[in-house]
Amino acid sequence: MKILQNYSLKEHNTFGMDVKASRFVEYDSVEELKVVVGGEGNCLDGKWIHIGGGSNLLFRGDYDGTVLHSAIRGCEVLKQDEQEVTLRVGAGEVWDDFVAYTVKNGWYGAENLSLIPGEVGASAVQNIGAYGTEAKDLIVSVETIEVATGKERVFSCEECRYAYRESIFKKEWKGRYIVTHVTYRLHRQPVFNLEYGNVRSELEKRGCELTLENVRRIIIDVRQAKLPDPKVQGNAGSFFMNPVVSRAQYEALQREYPDMPHYELEGGDVKIPAAWLIDRCGWKGRQWGRAGVHDRQALILVNRGGATGEEIMELAGKIQEDVCRKFGVQISPEVNYI
Ligand code: EPU
Repeated sequence: MKILQNYSLKEHNTFGMDVKASRFVEYDSVEELKVVVGGEGNCLDGKWIHIGGGSNLLFRGDYDGTVLHSAIRGCEVLKQDEQEVTLRVGAGEVWDDFVAYTVKNGWYGAENLSLIPGEVGASAVQNIGAYGTEAKDLIVSVETIEVATGKERVFSCEECRYAYRESIFKKEWKGRYIVTHVTYRLHRQPVFNLEYGNVRSELEKRGCELTLENVRRIIIDVRQAKLPDPKVQGNAGSFFMNPVVSRAQYEALQREYPDMPHYELEGGDVKIPAAWLIDRCGWKGRQWGRAGVHDRQALILVNRGGATGEEIMELAGKIQEDVCRKFGVQISPEVNYI
């Protein structure tokens, strides 16, 4: 176990904020975590947060408390037959390393989630998603430790109450459980999900054979073409979630903006891309002090160098105001302010 005082979090948040935590604790196993939460070395009697890859966080300043990080690794095949394989993965594994591993082994299902930053534990908290696939489509169960008691508890996928970028770990049980392992089920026979965006048309354009490797390659290329690399320019991927509006509100907007992209949801509500709303407000590529809006994808706020969390939040607030004024739609950050 690593316990560090007055520790810089610069390498632990993709916005690249140079902030410090009064204490940083990294544990390697469930046994170590049990000591942290309940044992004599209990670190969690004061203020604390648990982070993953720091790709969905915005630190407003130094963190006066304990920052926990999992270094629980490993990927174990629990069972497999001709159709499926079930894998148990440590929460501290880098998500995209896991996806690369599944593709290398010829296991289908995770390839559309290639190159999403972050770690396995966060995939189960955040229900990460891209190109028509969400983590919940692959998750069988989530192993946790209850913070108050140090007891192990396993949640079935259903119990996690997944929705778009939502789970019970972000809502009702926020701060109550720490994810230690996630079990995923993948296909061993070819099953692809190519309906979203330009994945299929890219395959055709390139004249590529339909293989796992090629789909992963295309997803990586499409992401790299649109999304800034956090190592080059600090960012946290999509800053806002795509808002969901009622059918009536959608129809009113659609009359005024016939070219507005949208996704129909079950039950009649409609999801509108926040990127389009922000773009239409003229924010794409604009600078705001040391913060700014990415010039190829309006959903991404960037640290242009040395921006503080407050500056990014200020920019986010201006964008929210403008979108609300122009379209009457509230957009909410996907990024957590700490
Ligand atoms: N659009 C604009 N202006 C822009 C960018 C996009 O008008 O600057 C329009 C596009 O033309 C398109 C629509 O907005 O019609 C949607 O854009 P896109 O397909 O790029 O997807 P998104 O809704 O912006 C979501 C996820 C991404 C994920 C992609 C692909 C959210 C908040 N974001 O973005 O997730 O990679 O779909 O599936 O749901 C992330 O969570 O960090 C992330 C990158």
